[in-house]
Amino acid sequence: MSKYLLIVAHAPSPNTRLITEAVLRGANHPDIEGVRVRWIPPLDATAEDVLKADGLILGTTENFAYMSGAMKDFFDRIYYPCLEVKQGLPYGLFIRAGNDGQGAKNSVEKIVTGLRWNAVQEPLVMRGKFQDSFVADSEELGMTVAAGMEAGIF
Ligand SMILES: Cc1cc2nc3c(=O)[nH]c(=O)nc-3n(C[C@H](O)[C@H](O)[C@H](O)COP(=O)(O)O)c2cc1C
Repeated sequence: MSKYLLIVAHAPSPNTRLITEAVLRGANHPDIEGVRVRWIPPLDATAEDVLKADGLILGTTENFAYMSGAMKDFFDRIYYPCLEVKQGLPYGLFIRAGNDGQGAKNSVEKIVTGLRWNAVQEPLVMRGKFQDSFVADSEELGMTVAAGMEAGIF
């Protein structure tokens, strides 16, 4: 039976859209069969979406040294409905920040620690001037999470 990888990413700008599309492309790599992938923006994602997911990739901009308000709203709505039943959910995280990213990373990690979700790798923090390597790194993140789910590693 196929697994379900949910991408909850806030992409308010052309660059963040490029990054998110790269994550999707990596997760949908043709060699990876048996993993269904869907991107839902955080304001549209519901607790039911998370309950159905076997793995998650979270993506947010850093705004005011915190995750985006949209991502915070997502967590506010899904936290208690998912708390008891989704412990151990494997997740990846990417952050796009103008110059820092630490505040966004910390804020997400604090909440997912509370949810007892498992990081599959160090968060990908893309700070400063936009670089082509961000796209390649994002694609790799998507591929790593999807391939790990397919292989049953996560
Ligand atoms: C309201 C607002 C607050 C922001 N706060 C921060 C911040 O605290 N730290 C930071 O590194 N970047 C900050 N940024 C920059 C955003 O993270 C950046 O614009 C976003 O990731 C999109 O990147 P892009 O310009 O490559 O599309 C802020 C942007 C906005 C609009």
